[in-house]
Amino acid sequence: MSLEGKVAFITGASRGIGRGIARLLAEQGMKVAVNGRSDGAQRVANELTATGHTARAFIGDISDKAQVEAMIQQAEDELGPLWLLVNNAGVINFAPTVDMPEADWDKTFDVNIKGVFLCSQAALRYMQPRKAGRIVNISSIASEIVRTERIAYCASKAAVNHFTRCLAVEVAPLGITVNCICPGMTHTDMLEEAMTSGGSKPENLLATIPMGKFAVSEDHAHLVAYFASEEAGHITGQVIRVDGGQSQFMPYAVG
Ligand SMILES: NC(=O)c1ccc[n+]([C@@H]2O[C@H](COP(=O)([O-])OP(=O)(O)OC[C@H]3O[C@@H](n4cnc5c(N)ncnc54)[C@H](OP(=O)(O)O)[C@@H]3O)[C@@H](O)[C@H]2O)c1
Repeated sequence: MSLEGKVAFITGASRGIGRGIARLLAEQGMKVAVNGRSDGAQRVANELTATGHTARAFIGDISDKAQVEAMIQQAEDELGPLWLLVNNAGVINFAPTVDMPEADWDKTFDVNIKGVFLCSQAALRYMQPRKAGRIVNISSIASEIVRTERIAYCASKAAVNHFTRCLAVEVAPLGITVNCICPGMTHTDMLEEAMTSGGSKPENLLATIPMGKFAVSEDHAHLVAYFASEEAGHITGQVIRVDGGQSQFMPYAVG
């Protein structure tokens, strides 16, 4: 699998899963554009540069069309032709449906699905004329199984899955692939937030995962690298769970 010298733009790579994806792709020789809204994006780019990789930070909000277009154009100018877009940035919020503020619903959809649309549209403007490129979307197993008190998150991630299929078919004649990864519980800030908000103990959550452990960013990053490879060029429109078997498993109630 040679990704050497190709360019990847990873949204939400200032920490968590996105940071892990950026690191693995850089280790595979890709030039990486590290996006996030905070200084964390610059820190990640600096870490990668300090270890001999090519990385640049692109600080901006993926739910803002003008910022997205400027970042993608700048990445093309500074790093070269964009080969891979990883739509990873996401937000979550917790509330029973009747209590969810409209602003929280809007923010979740703005980042989790409108952001995926805006980044894909901006990237495709460059990929389509070249008839080359890859898009990988990071969804969640919550797109397909029910998690209570996070309805905007679950619904927005379900939209990401079908967006993946629709776009995959649209751009397949151009040789561009679009695939989607649905992580299960992965040890990041987002999982910490989910445990705090839901009052869940790690040991109770681990009991719902047949593999008996949370995923780590690298579990998803390796699949991103495979989808990005030339070898995966005939795989498109796929939505794959990376969850240690969690979504297949219904533990017996005890007591
Ligand atoms: N962790 C899990 O258990 C889990 C499970 C299933 C799916 N996922 C999905 O995996 C993806 C990454 O999750 P994570 O756990 O790594 O989350 P995280 O630790 O909370 O990190 C989220 C990332 O998204 C960025 N971000 C948020 N809003 C943004 C915006 N408007 N524009 C640009 N960047 C933005 C954040 O950067 P700044 O703070 O710098 O803006 C940060 O880098 C998300 O799509 C999430 O839904 C995670």
